[in-house]
Amino acid sequence: MKILMVCLGNICRSPLAEGIFKHKIAEKGLDWTVDSAGTGGWHEGELPDHRSMAIAQKYGIDLRYQRARKLQSIDLQQFDLILAMDEMNYQHILKLAKTTEQQQKVAKILNFAHPNTDADVPDPYYDNRFEHVYQLLDKAADASIARLETELE
Ligand code: 4NP
Repeated sequence: MKILMVCLGNICRSPLAEGIFKHKIAEKGLDWTVDSAGTGGWHEGELPDHRSMAIAQKYGIDLRYQRARKLQSIDLQQFDLILAMDEMNYQHILKLAKTTEQQQKVAKILNFAHPNTDADVPDPYYDNRFEHVYQLLDKAADASIARLETELE
């Protein structure tokens, strides 16, 4: 299973989602790949935002190995599941999808924990709600990993 987390800048939400997922997957001994990317490329090559790194570190997760990158159309071929943080990211990813199969790989991350609500992970870049975002993503990770494990059985 190869999962790609996608947000706008790839410095706040999706790096945190990547770190949380990797942490939980490693604890379960699952051999899955997790990566993240941004629909925008303004921060390419940068470390995650220091506030994402700090909230991750508070929960024992290290994001220092991560560097921001821009989403590419080849990502839709290479990953099995592409998880968008919000509606804008979701629509952007769908536009890159070339086939129905690729479209079906795209989902909004909070729909696993809160089915059919179509809720967004709010962008914490300006309002500083990193703890809130962490808690949303932590629950999203538990729900989506559990679902994927049963689907793969
Ligand atoms: P992210 O947050 O999408 O969660 O990484 C943002 C980071 C930077 C910008 C926007 C959103 N920006 O416009 O630079």
